[in-house]
Amino acid sequence: MRNGVPYKIDKLDNANVGEKIRLRRRALRRLMEIGSVPFVLDAYAGYGRIWAQCYRDFDGVAIEKVEEKCYALASMRPTWPVYCTDSPSAIKQGILSRFPINFVDCDTYGAPWEAIETFFASMGHQGQEWGVEPVFQPRLDIVATDGGGLGARFTGLWELPRFQPYVQRFGAARMFERYPEVAKEMIQDLARPAGYELVDWIALRCGRDKSMLVFWAGMQC
Ligand SMILES: C[S@@+](CC[C@H](N)C(=O)[O-])C[C@H]1O[C@@H](n2cnc3c(N)ncnc32)[C@H](O)[C@@H]1O
Repeated sequence: MRNGVPYKIDKLDNANVGEKIRLRRRALRRLMEIGSVPFVLDAYAGYGRIWAQCYRDFDGVAIEKVEEKCYALASMRPTWPVYCTDSPSAIKQGILSRFPINFVDCDTYGAPWEAIETFFASMGHQGQEWGVEPVFQPRLDIVATDGGGLGARFTGLWELPRFQPYVQRFGAARMFERYPEVAKEMIQDLARPAGYELVDWIALRCGRDKSMLVFWAGMQC
């Protein structure tokens, strides 16, 4: 049961890995075409399979909450700091002040939204309250894996406060069908107050029943 709903998230670290890797490589290529050098926040780093396929040649920082995986990550990428903690908490505690992050990877089992919300919140008033002073980035890219579509299929996500404005706009019965648009609007609504406009967007449905969304949002200030 999850929020009283009889469904469960498929906890495979690298389900749909082919789609994930292709999308990330495309996003990285775009960033480099426009002359930016990626500095990656690998916020749900797992055992680093995506890192090995996508980020090996770049600088960055990894977060992973499972200790055993952190040891594996640290030995795999000696030049990257590895934080063994909860990602939204690390963002609140100022990871953006310490590193010039312009490429954020939220490869979650479930929903990436808490991390993404915290990321943008840390650029505004809330960030000031938390003592965060983000390193300014004119271009920002986020790639994410979002299992929220599964909840959209079962309940329309009306029970989760962050989705309520979108449930009102799209209707609970259409949240699953419209979930890629919902995700795009959510990113735009979070990025706008931080001064970013969406300029690149790709969302792919994947997984056994197409309930998983893998997306890339490229934004500019
Ligand atoms: C889908 S896997 C990531 C796979 C990884 N990208 C790779 O290439 O191997 C999700 C990972 O997020 C970690 N995780 C879950 N919740 C987390 C949190 N709140 N903060 C940090 N890591 C978390 C899990 O332990 C798991 O290793």
